[in-house]
Amino acid sequence: MCEPKCCWPFGEGKSARWCGCGLVILLGVGTFLLGLLAASILERRQEAQVRQELQPIAAWQSDSQAWAINYPRQYHAYRQMHQTESRTRYGGSYPRDLLEETPTNVILFAGMAFSLDYKQARGHVYSVEDVLHTQRITPKTPATCWTCKSTDVPRLMAELGGGDLETGAKPFYAKNFHELKPQMVHPIGCLDCHDPATMQLRISRPALLQALKRRGIQPESISHQQMRSLVCAQCHVEYYFGPENELTFPWDRGLEPGQMEAYYDGLSPEGFSDWTHAISGARMVKMQHPDYELYQTGVHAYRNVSCADCHMPYRTEGGQKYTDHHVQSPLLNIANSCAVCHRWSEKEIQDRVEGIQDRVRSARDRAERVLAEAHFDIAAAVQAGADENQLQEVRRLVRQAQLRWDYVAASNGMGFHSPQFAVQVLAETIDLAGQCRVQCAQILARQGVLGPIRYPDISTKEKAQAVVKAFREKTPPNLLPEQKQPGPSAKTP
Ligand code: HEC
Ligand code: HEC
Ligand code: HEC
Ligand code: HEC
Repeated sequence: MCEPKCCWPFGEGKSARWCGCGLVILLGVGTFLLGLLAASILERRQEAQVRQELQPIAAWQSDSQAWAINYPRQYHAYRQMHQTESRTRYGGSYPRDLLEETPTNVILFAGMAFSLDYKQARGHVYSVEDVLHTQRITPKTPATCWTCKSTDVPRLMAELGGGDLETGAKPFYAKNFHELKPQMVHPIGCLDCHDPATMQLRISRPALLQALKRRGIQPESISHQQMRSLVCAQCHVEYYFGPENELTFPWDRGLEPGQMEAYYDGLSPEGFSDWTHAISGARMVKMQHPDYELYQTGVHAYRNVSCADCHMPYRTEGGQKYTDHHVQSPLLNIANSCAVCHRWSEKEIQDRVEGIQDRVRSARDRAERVLAEAHFDIAAAVQAGADENQLQEVRRLVRQAQLRWDYVAASNGMGFHSPQFAVQVLAETIDLAGQCRVQCAQILARQGVLGPIRYPDISTKEKAQAVVKAFREKTPPNLLPEQKQPGPSAKTP
């Protein structure tokens, strides 16, 4: 028998001879295994080379499944966006009803469709289905609404002309939403972010290219790392429908809320507005989902961490590293999304994110309460008989306040993308809405109203919607104190 002490490292005599043989055999086996490993590596290399002989993909291939022949891993992960059960404290793919969670929002959006239907976003594969089912689409909705929803958009823009940089033609936007419905089959997919010939990341939507150009940024100067965020900025941004319903980003003066507000105010003498508020009569701007804009003000953007770094981290499978195309909340995949850079435990990372989000949410709640009261205070001033001149300034203040609140509220991620800036913007909201309320109290005092305003019950989505309905039907509840009835000149906006 081979004694351990003789075999390792070496021995003498009979047992040493046996050990010598054993060593030869061991070396042989080792060499054989190494050979196998080398062969397998070579095979992988060849596989990788064979992979480069890819099936050609048509220039306007909008069906993501057709890309799967060449890129099965990316397609497989992309398909995982079909699951809709994941929940995090403030996000996840579950389509939660944001109005049920926060009935105050019904009041803030009074007079526009968001007060009827406002659900949390879910995976990209649902984009066509969800836009077809939202109550926010009306018979008059322009085709512009399709821009962020389907891979069929780039082809139709090429066919019809859609805000071309050279010609300026924009017949795509001139169409009606319903007219193009039969053509919009495929949800957000490969063609939205990739050039099928080279697989390079590509900006497929002219609105982003135009906005960058107006800011003096030429497409050639964009770095690869910037592209890893800009593909998302095609859709995850604030926008409005410009002349002839052309999709336009209000970025000319900058990406912060005050700068976008200055842009909107400069569009016409009375300033651009999305709708007139059904309770206060203020001309309002609805912020869409300025994810890219808010992210730009945060520490991750400052340190060049892209959207894809967190939302599309690398995955390894069979020795191959590839990009995870299951775009979702990074909290559902902390190990790959965050822990590659942050050496904290997963639990610590999650606590850190939720701690940040709780603070933003708390500031947001306060902003929402004071905003809702500001709208009611203006309505009370109207009921007390205040004239249009007196109302102009308070309506301007509530418009400014709410635009800022919405910049944070409509952004996904509950402020995580830039916590300090989110809270600063909410502080501005509370300040502006507070100024509005003080001025309303002065107007009311001049009209002889000194008692407290009677704010209606808006504690559930249904109750809040009933209040909005009453205002829209010109039968608002009496907001003035008991002893004071609406004045003779009182009218709803
Ligand atoms: C440093 C990592 C990081 C970067 C960079 C980042 N995000 Fe996020 N994002 C998060 C986290 C964390 C959340 C919160 C997820 C949650 O609450 O479940 C989030 C939430 C979101 C959500 C909502 C997801 C949900 O399930 O509620 C969207 C949409 C989103 N981000 C888009 C973007 C876009 C677009 C960019 C780039 C402009 C970006 N993110 C950059 C980490 C990041
Ligand atoms: C929302 C944008 C987006 C969509 C949609 C998208 N990709 Fe990607 N894809 C990316 C990003 C970002 C990368 C990383 C590219 C880089 O850094 O070079 C990437 C990388 C890739 C790569 C390079 C290899 C790798 O994994 O890093 C392939 C192949 C690919 N995607 C295939 C697809 C396919 C197939 C689809 C459709 C099923 C698709 N992509 C949909 C954004 C997207
Ligand atoms: C062509 C437009 C478009 C592009 C490009 C795009 N998105 Fe989206 N994204 C959407 C829309 C629309 C939704 C909501 C879909 C729904 O709810 O039906 C969404 C939803 C999401 C969600 C929510 C998913 C969930 O499970 O909660 C995340 C996260 C997200 N996008 C991140 C990104 C990131 C990161 C990029 C860039 C790599 C990106 N998106 C590129 C339009 C786009
Ligand atoms: C590619 C690297 C990278 C990734 C991925 C990344 N981070 Fe970071 N993160 C950074 C850098 C760099 C900083 C800035 C640190 C500094 O400058 O001191 C930072 C800062 C932070 C901070 C401190 C912010 C502040 O204002 O002080 C938090 C919290 C954070 N990251 C959370 C996350 C979470 C959660 C994820 C995943 C969703 C994530 N990070 C993903 C690189 C990354």
